[in-house]
This record gives sequence, C-alpha cells and structure tokens, in this order.
Amino acid sequence: MKYFATTAAAALLLALAGCGQTQQKNEANQAAAPPSAAGQNEIWWKEAVVYQVYPRSYKDSNGDGVGDLRGLISKLDYIKSLGVNVIWLNPIYGSPNDDNGYDISDYRAIMKDFGTMADFDALLKGMHQRGLKVVLDLVVNHSSDEHEWFKQSRSARTSPYRDYYHWWPEEKGVPNKRQSFFDVKGDAWAYDAATKAYYLHYFSRKQPDLNWENPKLRQEIYSMMRFWFDKGIDGFRMDVIPFISKDTTFPPIPAKYKGDFGRFYANGPHLHEYLREMHREVLSKYNVLSVAEGAGVTQADALEFVDPARKELNMLYHFDGMGVGLVPGNKYRMRAPGPYSLLEFKDVYTKWDKIFAEKGWGTVYLGNHDQPRMTTRWGDDRPAFRAASSKLLTTFLLTMRGTPYYYGGDELGMTNIRFDKIDDYRDIETRNMYKQLQAEGGNLSQFVEAQKLTGRDNGRTPFQWDATANAGFTSGTPWLKINPNYAQINAAAEEKDSASVLNYFRRATAARRQHKVLVYGQYALLDAANPHVYAYTRTLGPEKALVVLNFTSEKHDWALPTGLALGGAPWLNNYPTFTPAAALALQPWQALVLPLR
Ligand code: NOJ
Repeated sequence: MKYFATTAAAALLLALAGCGQTQQKNEANQAAAPPSAAGQNEIWWKEAVVYQVYPRSYKDSNGDGVGDLRGLISKLDYIKSLGVNVIWLNPIYGSPNDDNGYDISDYRAIMKDFGTMADFDALLKGMHQRGLKVVLDLVVNHSSDEHEWFKQSRSARTSPYRDYYHWWPEEKGVPNKRQSFFDVKGDAWAYDAATKAYYLHYFSRKQPDLNWENPKLRQEIYSMMRFWFDKGIDGFRMDVIPFISKDTTFPPIPAKYKGDFGRFYANGPHLHEYLREMHREVLSKYNVLSVAEGAGVTQADALEFVDPARKELNMLYHFDGMGVGLVPGNKYRMRAPGPYSLLEFKDVYTKWDKIFAEKGWGTVYLGNHDQPRMTTRWGDDRPAFRAASSKLLTTFLLTMRGTPYYYGGDELGMTNIRFDKIDDYRDIETRNMYKQLQAEGGNLSQFVEAQKLTGRDNGRTPFQWDATANAGFTSGTPWLKINPNYAQINAAAEEKDSASVLNYFRRATAARRQHKVLVYGQYALLDAANPHVYAYTRTLGPEKALVVLNFTSEKHDWALPTGLALGGAPWLNNYPTFTPAAALALQPWQALVLPLR
C-alpha cells in the first residue's frame, strides 16, 4: 500500500512530563475574547499564508549535514521577506529518526540533530519578533518504540503503560490483517516475544500506534500540547489525526476492500468525541491554528472536522488533489502519474471550495514533504517552462479561497531530483517498498523509474541557497543529495532577478495581503469544460477579480466571457506584458489575476 497516494515507572514519566516546572506563559496566543463584531470572517489563520519548513533540509549551521534550528534562525529574515506570516515546522522533537521525526521518543525535547530547547526558545522569539507565527507538528497517532511509554508498555502485560498502545495477546490467535504503510512485509502487527503479544503499527515497526481509548493517554497528550502552547507556539498541524480512533476489535477487512483505508483504518467511532475533548481541554484556551492532515477524510465528512459550531478543528487538508492523475490501487506507486486531466483538477478544487462556502474554512496546497515537487508534478520542469509553470502554480495557491500551505523551496521553483539508484533514497517508505517488492520478485526497475516522479525524497532534497558548494546548505556532507541544478536554481541568483520565481512569489503574497477578495471572496469557476485553461472569479462585495491560468506548455486564446469587464492593470502576471482584449492571448503557463469592474 502506498502512503496516501490515492489516494508512534511513573516517577520517570512525571519527570518527562515536566511536572514541577514552572512554565512561563506566553501572552501572544492566549484565547482572545469571543469573536467580535468582525465575526467569523476576520480570523488571522484565514488570512495567513503558511510556509512549510522541512528543518532537516533547510539550513545546517554546524556542518553535520543536517539542517538545524540555528540554521533556520539565520534564515528568518529571508522567510519574513517572502511575505508569509506562519511557519509550519515538521517534527523537531526527540526522535531516533526512523521516519525523519515522525517517530517521537520525547515529545518535550528537541531532536539532538536539530539543537537544544534554548535554540528553540531563540527561534520562537526570533519568529515572534518578526511577526511570524509558528505551527508545530503534532504526531500522536503513534510514538517511537523508543518512547519511555512504549518501553514500559512492552516490558510486562501488567505495566501501567500497557494500555497506552494496542496489544493483541497471542492466545487470541493471529490478529486480523492490517496493512502497514512502511513495514517491509506490509504487516501492521508486530509480534513481541517478551510478552507474547502483537502490537499495532500502521507505519513502521518503530512507530507503534497509541491507544486513544485510554483516557490517561489522552490526558498525557493534552498536557503535552499545553506545554507547547504555554511556551507560546501558535498552532499544530495534526499528523494523520483521523487515525487516532479505530475499531479496536480489529474485525476482518472485507475482501472487496479497494484501498479505501479511510473507512477501515481511520475515522473510528470516537474520533469526533476525542477531537471535541481536545478542543475543550486545550485548543479552546488559546488563540491558535489547528489543521488536520485529513488522511482518509472524504468530501462528505469534511465539515464534521471544521464546522466551528462543532468545536473541533479550524482546518484540514485533503488528499483528493494529490490523487489527480494517479492510477487507483496502484500498489507501490509503480506507475508514475502521467499528464493529468485539468478537468479533473478543476473539479476537485471546485468541489472542495463548495464544501466551505457557508461554514468552515478550507486549505490549498500542491506539495509538501510527502509529495514530489509541485513544479515537476503539476507544472512542467523542463528549462523552457519551469519558471513560468512554477509561477502559475503559485498564482493558483495564492488566489484560491482557503489558507494556502506553501512548501519551502517551491518559491525557487525547485524540482524533483529523480534518483537513478535506490541507494540514493533515505526515505523509509521508498526503501521499504523496494525491499517488499524485491521479496515478491516484482519489477524493481519500473519501481525506481516511478519513484523519480512520486518518491517523497524528491521534495526533501536540501534547500538551494546559492551556487557555492552544497548549495550553501551545509559545509559538511548533506544527509540527502542536493539537486545538481542548484547551480542555476538558487535563492541568491533569484534575489538578483526581478523576474525570478522567488520575486514573483513575493508579489503574489503581497497581492493576497492587499486584496482581501483573494482571501474571502466567493469563488466561481468559469469555462468548466476547457481542458487547458483554469479560470475563476473571486467576489467580495463590490470587489471582483478574475484569475486565468493556462495550464499547458502551449499558447491558448481565452475569450473573456460576456458580462466581464476588465478593470485595470493585472494584479499579477507571470509574463512581462499584457494586452487587454476580448480574447486573451495566453502564453504557455501564463497566469493572470485581473481586477474586474
Ligand atoms: C504523515 C507525515 O506527513 C508523513 O511524513 C509521515 O511519514 C506519516 N504521517 C507518519 O507519521
């Protein structure tokens, strides 16, 4: 199964929990008074542009080849200059790094590779001084098997921590099959001889699933969340949060199951009860952003997470967009996505916009650390079209309703590295799928070929700062190879070029800040059947804008629909000139944002 293609001694724990320590409460994120007359429509996280930083690959300060918090601190002025206002950091906690930090061994410590808690405090201060908010990753479906809870849990069936995880005693027989995303054998049950029982791990064997049925576990999580909020962080991105509730009888999964993991693996009977409890116990006490990684969330379920009246979460991000052009049930992503259908793309984003038309709030993203680079996947990364298509995708992200989640490096138009050899990959997913396929006698060269487009490490290669050795990322040996195109594609070069992808991104964030219609305006799709051009209007009271995006590497004319009258110079245009006309002559990957009268 490919991860989300289509588609983790009482005294010791008290110490770990930081009991007895006095927390300095940060005032910035304390719950504001109930919404004022401004109401639902003016909330900071709705107006935010979230910039995602993969800390491991951002900037190394000490030459060990791994990005770190001090490195990130040295780049805060750069991030501020982008015009973004929220930074989401992938996990920075204590971890043995089986899955690059998504396997947490200490929720209240900083990963050694990344620095110290003093570094984190300095980072938080540096961000807040610049008016940047910080969102951390909350990984609580699973911990690391090296977490003290799991060590205790596996030590004896009578351990007070036994029920922090899902155990299946061998005398009940072999548990019903559950597929693991990262296991070499694809088996989500691992047998543990010490206590003669199986434990559940949806991800790797080193990522045992936490048992949310246990109220003590839930309180531990809420206390940990408060620890970070009391430090002053501004929100959490919640990793695979729909997975926290499961049918713990683990019934057999029907033979007809077709990769519909959402129904059988996630969205368990108590999910919304837990989210409401989390809101009551934690989120409601702070003025913070909460966003679910909506793994397995369908269009029909979405509002259950984010309808404000339900008091659960602010936002979620869905996977329907990422599935466009993928072959369903494509085990191991053996087949790379080919050219995708713009009609399908438009349909997905239009349907998701509609869900939040009256209540709730959406998100939009085209890449992250689990996906290929957006320019390679959704644009055209050949030299002639790379910059234009990157800018077009940026335009799309910053002109849709819903909060944009923009992946660090995309503002340079970074592209997939396309490794030729399996040994170049560091990602547990790619490496273990390869081993599984090898054991099955599958077509390994086809797999390596497909990974060039789909593999997660494509989105994780180090940030390309400049044209010096190792792209200015590290003075040591980078943990993952750097894309050789850094000589041309890098931040220093793009700083100097007013027409660069980087400077276009800055103009795009400025446009969204300046024109609230781009944030709150109603969205209406135009020319739905056009297979080349994605066009829509955004309307907020008297303000109206037209967005026209030529999603192809060819020129296309696009006739202005009757009744629409252009109202001045483009707010955004990724080409140097624009001639108003009844039929707009669009250049390859041209993107226009035009005010309407
Ligand atoms: C989702 C994260 O985005 C991904 O990187 C990770 O491997 C899994 N969840 C498991 O935590």
